[in-house]
Amino acid sequence: MPFTISSATFTDAEEIAVLLRRSIVELCQDDHGNDPEKYEPWLKNKTTENVERWIVGPGRVFSAVDERRKVVGVVMGTPDGEVVLNYVSPDARFSGVSKMLMNAIEEYFRDRGLTSAVLNSTCTAERFYRSVGYAETGRVELHRELMCRQFRKAL
Ligand SMILES: CC(C)(COP(=O)(O)OP(=O)(O)OC[C@H]1O[C@@H](n2cnc3c(N)ncnc32)[C@H](O)[C@@H]1OP(=O)(O)O)[C@@H](O)C(=O)NCCC(=O)NCCS
Repeated sequence: MPFTISSATFTDAEEIAVLLRRSIVELCQDDHGNDPEKYEPWLKNKTTENVERWIVGPGRVFSAVDERRKVVGVVMGTPDGEVVLNYVSPDARFSGVSKMLMNAIEEYFRDRGLTSAVLNSTCTAERFYRSVGYAETGRVELHRELMCRQFRKAL
């Protein structure tokens, strides 16, 4: 599946918000067990308005779009090297989208002179992060009712 990665724009914001919500509900069942009490708090801030705020915020948001201009993935990084969003459309999973998005955000971190990237992983994504070079730090954090293991990668 051909796709391109670029900085996200306001035009994509609504589609990104829909993608974030679908990806959480449909792909992260190992994390929330289809329990609305677990996933509703997670979905709460995934609105078009917040995506617009993140796009103009201090970090960077990259989106992947397919040949029909449909958004198939999104990643967001903070200026100090934390990956705070990394979600792929359920329609585009395991086609290399997130790998490319992670490359883009790591490039952004390197351009800022950072030497490592950090993130708190869902259970769903742990295998993926290991496959792209991240290792567990041993730290476990509770994020909106979900246990997340922290991962780090030297850049
Ligand atoms: C985790 C996620 C972002 C991965 O995105 P993706 O675009 O499907 O991943 P890619 O296609 O870029 O990479 C696939 C890699 O994941 C790994 N992988 C993990 N689980 C896999 C599975 N069940 N089947 C195949 N590959 C799997 C493979 O090692 C593969 O690496 P390879 O290409 O070297 O074989 C995506 O599944 C997702 O959006 N999950 C839900 C949201 C989420 O949990 N986000 C993380 C928040 S911290």
